[in-house]
Amino acid sequence: EKGGHRHFMAKEIAEQPTVLGDALAHYLRGDGIELPQPGLDFADFDRVVMVACGTANYACVVAKYWFEQIAGVSVEVDIASEFRYREPPIGPRTLALFVSQSGETADTLAALRYCEGKAAKIVSVVNVTESSIARESDLVLPIRAGAEIGVASTKAFTCQLTVLFLLALQAAVDRKRLEPDELEANLNNLRHLPGLMNFAIAQSGEIAAVAKSVSEARDVLFLGRGAMFPLALEGALKLKEISYIHAEGYASGELKHGPIALVDKTVPVIVLAPTDNLFDKTVSNMQEVMARGGKVLLVTDPKGARAAADGCWKTLIMPEVPPVLAPILYALPAQLLAYHAAVAKGTDVDQPRNLAKSVTVE
Ligand code: M6R
Repeated sequence: EKGGHRHFMAKEIAEQPTVLGDALAHYLRGDGIELPQPGLDFADFDRVVMVACGTANYACVVAKYWFEQIAGVSVEVDIASEFRYREPPIGPRTLALFVSQSGETADTLAALRYCEGKAAKIVSVVNVTESSIARESDLVLPIRAGAEIGVASTKAFTCQLTVLFLLALQAAVDRKRLEPDELEANLNNLRHLPGLMNFAIAQSGEIAAVAKSVSEARDVLFLGRGAMFPLALEGALKLKEISYIHAEGYASGELKHGPIALVDKTVPVIVLAPTDNLFDKTVSNMQEVMARGGKVLLVTDPKGARAAADGCWKTLIMPEVPPVLAPILYALPAQLLAYHAAVAKGTDVDQPRNLAKSVTVE
């Protein structure tokens, strides 16, 4: 049942190129995107509110960057347990979007119920389509990741991101912010993603070697800018939940507002930095870490490595990817690092202590 892998998590990481390809095949028709019925018209909404927990919440934070940049739509992202008790105003031009692998997370379901009768539409992005969240939504967008058994979410995250990216593109089309050729270019880039993911997975051995040292650390920091900031949060969550190592994710620019005080030669600092328009800024934050003796693990592409690997403790090289899709690809080295660190520590990778796959009580 683990398909020759030692853990479900390893199997689910390895499945990502395939399930992502399937998800794309489900949503792409000819030269366009086909969403399930009843369709949406983003010209009807002024804002989108996205609500979720844990990893699903980080998928929403990445999507916020996409919706704002590609479609010009305002997005607010909330943690379900906060949203549900805050009495946030939800008006008739607000789209309420809920993301959940299980579709049964109690806080996310309660947040959805709060929006019933207030929001213009309730949309959910779920893996389990026979779930409460799916049943109570006006429109359900399945992520089609297949059963996810490992408590640490992996393939559900990258499939959530993929569906949210498609939705951001659709929003841009509806709001006349994307020409047909730009849409086509984006869809072609997406079609190349499974191949790039295979390259990332092929580096599992190299990542395992780095993870062995990381597994000896007491604290680990993850840094990223722009849409790589939520990836830093996700990398830290993944590491702490399965290896029990204390890890924090920060927006690179926040470093000097506090967390840099933690940096010394025992703290691995994992910098997620594809060569995008923010690369130089991230690198300058990284150099501040190195100037204080921090052990930097730079995750970048060949161009980024040529420009900035000097002085880093280690460098992991990902294939070049269009910057907008980097959050999907860079999820894989973050997952593999956590996985191998947990294996090195001998923890229960698929069933980490104190955690449940589906959190059905608040
Ligand atoms: O089933 P859901 O997507 O609603 O679950 C949300 C979180 O409980 C979940 O993502 C959790 O954070 C994972 N263990 C992260 O790996």
